[in-house]
Amino acid sequence: MNLSGKTFIVTGASSGIGKVLSKKLATKGAQIICASRNLDNLNRVVEEIKIQGGTAISVQTDITQMDQCQLLVEKTINHYGKLDALVLNAGISMWTPFESLKDVSFFRQLMETNYMGAVHCCHAALPFLKSSNGLIVNCSTGQALMGFPNHTGYAASKHALRGFLASLDIEMKGEIQFLDVIMGWIRGTGLRENAFGPNGQKLGETKRNHTSQSVPLIECVQAIVSGIENDKKVIYIPKKLRLVPFFNVFFKGLLNRKVAKAVNDHQD
Ligand SMILES: NC(=O)c1ccc[n+]([C@@H]2O[C@H](COP(=O)([O-])OP(=O)(O)OC[C@H]3O[C@@H](n4cnc5c(N)ncnc54)[C@H](OP(=O)(O)O)[C@@H]3O)[C@@H](O)[C@H]2O)c1
Repeated sequence: MNLSGKTFIVTGASSGIGKVLSKKLATKGAQIICASRNLDNLNRVVEEIKIQGGTAISVQTDITQMDQCQLLVEKTINHYGKLDALVLNAGISMWTPFESLKDVSFFRQLMETNYMGAVHCCHAALPFLKSSNGLIVNCSTGQALMGFPNHTGYAASKHALRGFLASLDIEMKGEIQFLDVIMGWIRGTGLRENAFGPNGQKLGETKRNHTSQSVPLIECVQAIVSGIENDKKVIYIPKKLRLVPFFNVFFKGLLNRKVAKAVNDHQD
């Protein structure tokens, strides 16, 4: 895809991957609709894009609400007349062993945001993406391909979304393109800080060990942009994650032990 003049909705554009990705796409000439709940943060991102010489608007959107997702797409079409790409990036996580949870009701919020929120956006955007032979980008995770300790509800929501998009891909018969971005730990985002902790509250600032396994935000975003420009169907960040599906089938025990150790090393 040549990004110049293309219209992108980026959900979760107020922070982390969505924020840096919006700015990077804009430097390539794309027009960005920045969507998330926090309007002040979104407006700051839009300002930064404009200062860079790019084009962007902010649309305050809670993706758990279908009517707000419809409004997001309506505002996009009213403003730019078309939609070329939808980046499903907004998401929340958790960081707690299932057994130690007193209450699992926040699992609904994980599903409402990571799964239903993306479904709402796809449903509203589909007719416009079909007419532009557009693209859906899924900012996914290795945890959508395998089990992952301390992240039961998050992994489940990301598995659900991946299954939904793989099915939609077949239904669309090539009328829409799909890019699956499978990421490991990315350094410099708010995901862990905003993750649900043991009592269902935000984890907040915690001490963590940044091992060589985490990827800097800017490297991650460069890889996503390159995947879009080169019409990839799936990319792995870091590249070694491409071995996960193979290990999950043939060496599951070994993979599970490695993952358990990695989570342990990443703890407080
Ligand atoms: N960081 C990693 O290591 C990593 C690894 C693999 C995959 N990912 C995936 O990458 C995506 C981005 O994560 P990040 O690391 O950049 O985290 P982040 O910095 O916490 O950003 C999450 C974004 O999602 C938005 N959001 C949350 N709930 C929303 C809702 N109901 N409606 C609209 N927007 C909502 C937040 O904005 P508001 O608060 O303004 O709504 C924020 O902009 C997520 O889907 C995550 O699962 C991240």
